[in-house]
Amino acid sequence: MDLGGTNFRVCSIKLHGDTTFSLTQSKVAIPRELMVAKTSQELFSFLAKQIESFLKQHHNDHFEGFHQKREAGQDLTDEHFFKLGFTFSFPVNQIGINKGHLIRWTKGFDIADAIGKDVCALLQAEIDALHLPVKVAALVNDTVGTLMARSYTSPGKTGTLLGGIFGTGTNGAYVEKLDKVTKLKKMEVKGDFDSTTGNMIINTEWGSFDNEMSVLPNTPYDDALDKESNNPGIQMFEKRVSGMFLGEILRRAILAMIKDGKTELFSDESSKTNDVHSTCTIADDSPLYKQWGLDTSFLSIAHGDQSQGYRITRQALSKDLGVDAASSEDAEAIKIITEAIGKRSARLSAVAIGAVIIATGNLTLTAGEAVDDEHKQLIEEEVVDVGVDGSLVEYYPGFEQYVRDALREIEGIGEKGEKRIRIGIAKDGSGVGAALIALVAGGIDGP
Ligand code: GLC
Repeated sequence: MDLGGTNFRVCSIKLHGDTTFSLTQSKVAIPRELMVAKTSQELFSFLAKQIESFLKQHHNDHFEGFHQKREAGQDLTDEHFFKLGFTFSFPVNQIGINKGHLIRWTKGFDIADAIGKDVCALLQAEIDALHLPVKVAALVNDTVGTLMARSYTSPGKTGTLLGGIFGTGTNGAYVEKLDKVTKLKKMEVKGDFDSTTGNMIINTEWGSFDNEMSVLPNTPYDDALDKESNNPGIQMFEKRVSGMFLGEILRRAILAMIKDGKTELFSDESSKTNDVHSTCTIADDSPLYKQWGLDTSFLSIAHGDQSQGYRITRQALSKDLGVDAASSEDAEAIKIITEAIGKRSARLSAVAIGAVIIATGNLTLTAGEAVDDEHKQLIEEEVVDVGVDGSLVEYYPGFEQYVRDALREIEGIGEKGEKRIRIGIAKDGSGVGAALIALVAGGIDGP
């Protein structure tokens, strides 16, 4: 199951063992009040109930059989339980494959009593309260899932370096040599991990890169967005890059232009004469006046609009934002601001991707320095493989191209390096990746 984006998903996955898989899923939008619930129990019991209805709908035979056995007092062993991979995409201090303490919430979630608790235990308690045949076998960040899924689904041998999410939030996870993970020696609670491969997957939580704002670009709109968010001063990189925030930046920029009479946005002569019957109007209850009222999907529409007179953007202004009879100049202005916001997001994303590639030395490694055989093969092929997922990479027009343009400008990557970076979508990565990890963690027995 997958918690951490706009939707909550429960899926069961059959891995065919040949890079392919089949997936059955149910998806619900997380009710906003649960994101800021008074107690974590409210959220986790909601999640457990979704698992229950998923099992009833898609695995009813097993579900019924389990209950009959339980009621008859029969022994229930591991193979009666589904192994659950729990993709929980928030910063966690992970101390075991299915154990991790929440450090802080991000992306609009805010439930104080969960901080510091083991989120797997919180979930297992609610699953047990409903007597479901499910054991939480693995705790996975969505970026780690994406990295795993990309490695599994890429044809041929792959040693994927980095899994990146550019969706509601942004973050990346990569493969690091164990002896470089100095934090392990300093940890108060010693983690439980397998050291045989000599590698460790690092969840960077790059969304909180430069919270001190020493290098990140800043505008009055970013500042105001941050101050009025429920975690000011945190996730400063993410607040300039990811889908949850881009719409809000645009909304604030538009409002500032409307208030500043000089720009004539939505009030220029041509919007008045554009349609003889109407002047441009903004509805009193326009989402433009509400915090988070402008969805990032609007940016994708405006940015990609090639229609004559920006008809498509004008339609979206009317339908989504209650701005009627905007002129083509108005729409063009919106498109220009949108492009600036989208391009900045993509170029910052390139900074994060580029940083990991440079820090791991992947463009300069020799075969002898490979972490494993698959990695060696990639070094010989001169490919650095990156798996990505999320609404920006999937739907934002030209996102990858902007990332690539910026990568070429980075010292240490350049044109030659950029060509060697292979970026591929790992669709549903967080679900499939969690299943892969649950499988490995929980052993192969099970329904
Ligand atoms: C936020 C979370 C992080 C997650 C990312 C993408 O940055 O803190 O854990 O990976 O969003 O969903």
